[in-house]
Amino acid sequence: MWIPVATLDEFRNGRLVVRVQGEKTPVLLFYTGEEVFAIADICTHDKNPLSDGPVEGETIQCTRHGARFNLRTGKATLPAPRPVKAYKTKLEAGQVWLEV
Ligand code: FES
Repeated sequence: MWIPVATLDEFRNGRLVVRVQGEKTPVLLFYTGEEVFAIADICTHDKNPLSDGPVEGETIQCTRHGARFNLRTGKATLPAPRPVKAYKTKLEAGQVWLEV
């Protein structure tokens, strides 16, 4: 099911954290200038929010111990033991949609 979660004018520095009904953790939205990525905003190593981490290409880094997560797929590097949930998104006329 696709749900509208935000509009691009709500983003700051390309980022926005939203609460989505039915999802246990907040969702980090990241706007590249062309598309929006969406992953759960929680590190699988020790539950640190990922939203403040530095981004390089399609990768965001946890600020606590340095695990990296792919913003498109959720794939993780150590010390994170597993990926974060990644969501499909679409962008239509400034409206961000998330598939849940
Ligand atoms: S809490 Fe994120 S790497 Fe440890």
